[in-house]
Amino acid sequence: MRTTYDAIIIGGGVIGCSIAYELCKQNKRVLLLEKETIGSKASSAAAGMLGAEMEFETNHPLYTLAKESRDSFSFLSKELFDICGIDIELIQKGIYELAFKEEEAVDLKREAAERHDQGEEVSWLEANNLLIKEPSLSPLVTGALYFAKDAQVSPVKLTRAFYHSAKILGAEIKEHTKVVQLLQSNNKVTGVVTTEETFHADSVIVACGVWSSDIEPSLKMVPVKGECLSFNTKRSLLTGTVKYKNCYLVPKRENRIFVGATSTPHVFDEDVTFSGLFELMEKAKQIVPELSGASFEKAWGGIRPQTLSGIPNIGRHPHKEGLILATGHYRNGILLSAITGKKIADYMESEVHSS
Ligand code: FAD
Ligand code: GLY
Repeated sequence: MRTTYDAIIIGGGVIGCSIAYELCKQNKRVLLLEKETIGSKASSAAAGMLGAEMEFETNHPLYTLAKESRDSFSFLSKELFDICGIDIELIQKGIYELAFKEEEAVDLKREAAERHDQGEEVSWLEANNLLIKEPSLSPLVTGALYFAKDAQVSPVKLTRAFYHSAKILGAEIKEHTKVVQLLQSNNKVTGVVTTEETFHADSVIVACGVWSSDIEPSLKMVPVKGECLSFNTKRSLLTGTVKYKNCYLVPKRENRIFVGATSTPHVFDEDVTFSGLFELMEKAKQIVPELSGASFEKAWGGIRPQTLSGIPNIGRHPHKEGLILATGHYRNGILLSAITGKKIADYMESEVHSS
């Protein structure tokens, strides 16, 4: 195994694996180091929504980037399948934001009109039309704002597909390898020190999710714990993803439904709590009453990596040469993984050409 690379990526979540994949496509010599196993942290806790329009207001700084990332998944899913044979289970059936109360319907109708005026493909569905499309929803719904282009994937398969494709394209990947510090001289980062070895590289990329501040203390990460659960149903209950307030139901292959998610800032454990599950199950039953007869599959928790500003750090460190940041994707790391990998690879390529 060599000890000098073009790029070392710290962290094998969806972000680190996407970057490894994109850098390998540019023939870079890449080493990815993961302290546990690939995709074992936030990236496997996600529901997998590609909710660019559902998650962001049109004036949000991430809105355009999020849409670009979401729209790239049609091509990406084929590209990854062709390279590694993993199907990321892309489902492009939209996301419905539901209203139950009249005042909620008024707000969502106004939002539909505003977004429509801005040329977006969103629409307001009255209850009768909504129930034709999604007949298992509660008859008490008053309507929904429909984000037709939002989609979803399997987050576990996406991370695995980036990882396997990067490996096939030449990346070296070491699991159970914890980076303990950056190698630095005169404000220039030149490599990393792990518990066992030292590796050198032209660029080091921090993609450690909520643990990024352990590597680079200027990154002040805020942990936001989320809990989810899943059910098996006897028949398909939903085609699109549905969301009401802070509860969403994401229909997966083979009649599975993911229900998420709680949101508890400043909590660092992944425990599944009685109150978390109870809250989600009550809401899920309100949205799709038939779910109360579904079989429980499993429950899990994960830590969303949030920055103080709420905007991820994607790009060069402002003061340290050779250090690149790709962290803080908070609620949208699956959605933003595609564009983050591309941006970092393009950034490194432009550095080569400008030097
Ligand atoms: P992680 O997946 O946490 O990966 C970081 C990796 O770095 C870990 O594997 C860790 O072991 C490794 N690491 C840390 N320190 C070191 C070190 N010193 N040395 C080596 N390795 C190290 N996003 C969406 O887009 N759509 C959704 O529907 C969605 N739903 C979510 C639901 C829940 C309940 C949660 C918790 C999150 C959800 N998210 C969703 C957010 C998404 O999961 C995260 O934004 C994304 O997974 C972050 O990816 P990451 O690679 O930055 O972090
Ligand atoms: N994006 C959904 C969540 O973080 O729960």
